[in-house]
Amino acid sequence: NDVSLREQSIVLIGFMGVGKTTIGRSVAKKLYRDFIDIDEEIEKKFNLPTPEIFKKYGEKKFRETEKEIIIHSCKQKLKIISVGGGAFLQEEIRKACLSECIIFFLDLSWDSWKERISLLIDSRPVLQGKTIEQIEKLFYERQPIYEGHHSRVITDNLVVDEIADYITDSLK
Ligand code: S3P
Repeated sequence: NDVSLREQSIVLIGFMGVGKTTIGRSVAKKLYRDFIDIDEEIEKKFNLPTPEIFKKYGEKKFRETEKEIIIHSCKQKLKIISVGGGAFLQEEIRKACLSECIIFFLDLSWDSWKERISLLIDSRPVLQGKTIEQIEKLFYERQPIYEGHHSRVITDNLVVDEIADYITDSLK
């Protein structure tokens, strides 16, 4: 019913560095809701930044922890949740989010995205050691996992505040 729909948590997905965290914070503020950044929760759990988690424990352990935290978080009501760009590679995560939450895919074009690369590389182990061509390939390979059943927001040419308004307006 309407009441439970309005209480559903919102999950933001999309490739690394499209702005899920910044936009999520803004949406949370506009809706007076709590914001959960999954990467930050994972880092808190290990008490390490993501590249160190990858180095020390491996990506597999990172992905297991990511799954646990997302599955737990998406069951909560009235949250705004930003999940890492690789989270939707896991079917269990996709299923849990789809059944519990409203999902928005923040879609930025490759041309806009690649302008940001130097800001991202140090904190994103998945990008490290890759050529720009390999990153472009990864970018396009990942697109289909975000597409489909979600509301898509084309974020090129929009500032954070406009994207957050678009999301909150589309809930009305
Ligand atoms: C990853 C994305 C990152 C973070 C980790 C792995 C990925 O999150 O979870 O570095 O595989 O795409 P952002 O999408 O917030 O950068």
